[in-house]
Amino acid sequence: MAKDVIIACDFAGRQQTLDFLDAFEGRRKPFLKIGMELYYAEGPDIVRELKRRGHPIFLDLKLHDIPNTVKKAMRVLSSLDVDMCNVHAAGTVEMMRAALEGLTREDGSRPLLIAVTQLTSTSEERMQRELLIGAGIDETIVKYAQNAKEAGLDGVVCSPLEAAMVKDACGPDFLAITPGIRFAESARDSGASGKTCFPGVQDDQVRITTPARARQIGSDYIVVGRPVTAAPDPVAAYGRCLKEFLNQ
Ligand code: C5P
Repeated sequence: MAKDVIIACDFAGRQQTLDFLDAFEGRRKPFLKIGMELYYAEGPDIVRELKRRGHPIFLDLKLHDIPNTVKKAMRVLSSLDVDMCNVHAAGTVEMMRAALEGLTREDGSRPLLIAVTQLTSTSEERMQRELLIGAGIDETIVKYAQNAKEAGLDGVVCSPLEAAMVKDACGPDFLAITPGIRFAESARDSGASGKTCFPGVQDDQVRITTPARARQIGSDYIVVGRPVTAAPDPVAAYGRCLKEFLNQ
């Protein structure tokens, strides 16, 4: 099964993104994640441009709407020729099935479709008090992952620390896409300790681990943002992720 490192391109616009990618010219073309900020700023053109430059694309728009609307939106994303996209599992099995139908091209091919279970920013306490979900957060994540599998999706986004739990419940081929990645030395100074590992920026990730540990736990794709994008040498930081995660 393909394993890879995905760089989260959390940039405000096209120029910043291209400036960042210039350093990778003539090297391995990284798999890139385009999120809401960049997509809403630049629209589908930024996806086409990065695809043209040879990058595989994870379009992270987290769709959640009525099944018919999601199906039609997915049809549009499929024509953009992205490699991976996602929905919220909270939209129900019916919505996820509709998403898959919209995404599937006439020749039967389609991008990978991944579900968000519970956002890693949602605590168990808030989930129970505000969303009135009485189950525990782990149980909820496993159930949402099972719903995604039942709908025919390829995997879920989860914390690397949850990857083993998801694999146990849904099988080894069900993909675990995991953000929350930090290098060992910065992991000690970030997250729960409240210190910052990026110059001038408080780290907001709490449930974190290293690329090597993520591989051991069972992640299929790690999503890495600031440890690469804010590094003094992003190409070297990306190379280190590949080395640790893919054992290359
Ligand atoms: O900079 P950092 O490595 O924390 O970036 C992680 C990326 O993964 C960001 O684009 C963030 O939006 C995304 N993400 C996440 N947690 C989730 C889903 C997506 O951190 N549960």
